[in-house]
Amino acid sequence: MRIDIRPVSRLRGEHPLDVAGTLGPVLAALAASPADLPRVMLTCDWVQYKANFRDVADCRPILEGQPSPPWREEGTAPSEAGEAMEIALDLRRTVDADMPAVIGKLLAEQRDPASSGKIALEGWVPGRSSCIWQFNALYWQALSFWEQATGREYEQALPGGESDARNTAAVRELILELFKVWDDLDARDALPPELYVVELGVGNGNQAKTWLDEFVKLSAAHSRDYYRRLHYMMGDYSPHVLGRAMKAVAQHGDHVTTLVVDATHPTASLGFLRGKAFLVYISNVYDNLPTDEVARIGGRPYQVEVSAYLPGAEAARLGQSIGVTPERLPDVVGKLLKLGPELLCEALPQHFADPGQAVTFWREAWGAVRLAERYVPLPGLDTYQIAEGLTGELLRTQLEADGDLRMHVNNGALSSFARTLPLLHPFGRLQCHDLFVTDIRQYLTAFCGPGKYDGSVVNWVNGPLLRHVGNRAGFSVDIAPFSARPSSNVKTLTAQVRD
Ligand SMILES: C[S@@+](CC[C@H](N)C(=O)[O-])C[C@H]1O[C@@H](n2cnc3c(N)ncnc32)[C@H](O)[C@@H]1O
Repeated sequence: MRIDIRPVSRLRGEHPLDVAGTLGPVLAALAASPADLPRVMLTCDWVQYKANFRDVADCRPILEGQPSPPWREEGTAPSEAGEAMEIALDLRRTVDADMPAVIGKLLAEQRDPASSGKIALEGWVPGRSSCIWQFNALYWQALSFWEQATGREYEQALPGGESDARNTAAVRELILELFKVWDDLDARDALPPELYVVELGVGNGNQAKTWLDEFVKLSAAHSRDYYRRLHYMMGDYSPHVLGRAMKAVAQHGDHVTTLVVDATHPTASLGFLRGKAFLVYISNVYDNLPTDEVARIGGRPYQVEVSAYLPGAEAARLGQSIGVTPERLPDVVGKLLKLGPELLCEALPQHFADPGQAVTFWREAWGAVRLAERYVPLPGLDTYQIAEGLTGELLRTQLEADGDLRMHVNNGALSSFARTLPLLHPFGRLQCHDLFVTDIRQYLTAFCGPGKYDGSVVNWVNGPLLRHVGNRAGFSVDIAPFSARPSSNVKTLTAQVRD
């Protein structure tokens, strides 16, 4: 049996983790079960996100071939059928849990899935296609409803309690570097009359406001009036967010334009800027875009498939709160995700008297959502499509370099990045503040998502993979500590045409 302990840094120090205390009862429970022990993999994480999609212990089948029929419907424990499985533990929570009971229940549910009372919200799908991304989109589409109910703004959930994009020193540094590029081009009569700056994923507009306010000051102090020529384009997929951001920068009038843009396909609405943008700015967005995970287990590549579900007890409570049976919840949740809280009341007035009740249901459902996972063999990396024009071959170096590992593909971020680069002026740059994995080996020792930030999803971004894609397109890609908070997990990625 293989045991992987990822949060190794917690094994030392003043208060080391009592892993042995956790593993003892787990191993005893497994030994007493009919599980096929040589084919059991025990993986220990430290899930730092208090709100997440995991239980204290989860069981993940490792399939031999393409699933047919689905294991859930077979009604037998994978272990009994001699199938391989991973038992995943969250060490942050195992200390307070009755582990023999937890593992006993987990294995019993594997033998008899119906006994769990779990309500599946979807079938098995790659991570990027899960309905958790519809929850995520709903959060940004109906942000005010959520914030009203919680009494706190989304920014407070970000690392550091506010967006790093608002750091004035970092903003000034970036603008002064832009001025230098423009001065040089101007000296050669090569500066275009229109100076385009694009921001993708604008949130409440505070970043744009900080940036524009600083720009005005620096431009006034500069020999050339760049502000007069500046066009700041704010793109987001949520019209609600755009409206809010526009209010925040109202004083900058005609210098600002808003556009509904899907960050994963920016060229669809921003194609007219091809080769013209001097700066594309993106902060805390890549970690919020849909992603798959892939793994190498025993030297073989697998795709992680997920199925969002509501645990039995939560489903019973949630159903009772709106007067429906748990079995009807997938339908009600589906309507919520399609219509949003306001229209849900109109569609189902017998269950929701006002939007407030619909928001309560939304928040509770989101809080309860978990992801079941299984590993499905990838027949060949070339058959796996990361995004349009990006094949799974790009994953080969990472998946084959460091032995077994599990990592993010960040399909949405890769698609966004690859399609944003062509928008850059030859002297332009893309700058991004986000939670980046900078070395693939970090996946061996850290939990990198998914987690929940209020109503949204967070996954760290596979930086070396972005760098690989940028390099292939002729760009240099640098990922450096965020200068204003060097110890932070938020890093700064800069991509520019290679000299
Ligand atoms: C965490 S907020 C970051 C806001 C701001 N950049 C900051 O740092 O505070 C994520 C933003 O990305 C937007 N977003 C998420 N997915 C998107 C997508 N596929 N296309 C466009 N915008 C998206 C959300 O609407 C939201 O405004």
